[in-house]
Amino acid sequence: MTGVAVRRIREDEWRRVRRLRIEAVSDPDAGIAFLSTPDQERAHDDAFWQQRTADNATGDAAAQFVAVAGDEWIGTATVLVYPLGATDYMGRTVWTSRADVVGVYVRADHRGSGVIDALLDAAADWAAGLGLRQINLDVHVDNARAQAAYRRNGFVPTGETVTSAHGTEAVMTRTL
Ligand SMILES: CC(C)(COP(=O)(O)OP(=O)(O)OC[C@H]1O[C@@H](n2cnc3c(N)ncnc32)[C@H](O)[C@@H]1OP(=O)(O)O)[C@@H](O)C(=O)NCCC(=O)NCCS
Repeated sequence: MTGVAVRRIREDEWRRVRRLRIEAVSDPDAGIAFLSTPDQERAHDDAFWQQRTADNATGDAAAQFVAVAGDEWIGTATVLVYPLGATDYMGRTVWTSRADVVGVYVRADHRGSGVIDALLDAAADWAAGLGLRQINLDVHVDNARAQAAYRRNGFVPTGETVTSAHGTEAVMTRTL
């Protein structure tokens, strides 16, 4: 992962956030990775991206991290924080306050280089810094590559599953 730095996004970077999201949901594996399509993402107006970027750049409710090589954004992961009693992005009630990792993506020509490890560590460190003890994610049962990367990074299946618009997702968790 030489020459790659991972950092939180900045509020003024909403155009890059939008570009990377559209790139991610255009990936050949997007059908087992993301719940939206390029057309859905392109339909959002500038105000949507400005608000999302501001929300993920500052504060303790959410944070988006990017992996940067030179001036290129080559990967991303976002953490969403749920207090007790909240409803998560899949509509589940949250019984123990926790963080979820969503929107995980590494550009194809940088896969297998450890970028995902650095992104997940940044996500975990940030959540731990908030005093959280657990970080979860949902991964499609057919997304074997993502599951292997998550296992290598300390995520274990909880045995729970959730049904999304794209099929069955397994819940994995990492203790912080
Ligand atoms: C998921 C993703 C972020 C993982 O990053 P990555 O750089 O590809 O991950 P790595 O190469 O470090 O690790 C992948 C693991 O899967 C293994 N693997 C590779 N291809 C595989 C396949 N077809 N089936 C099963 N395992 C596979 C690799 O051997 C490696 O496991 P190992 O560390 O035990 O050897 C990246 O592939 C990606 O962006 N995919 C598209 C979007 C996506 O699926 N996002 C996740 C949504 S939950």
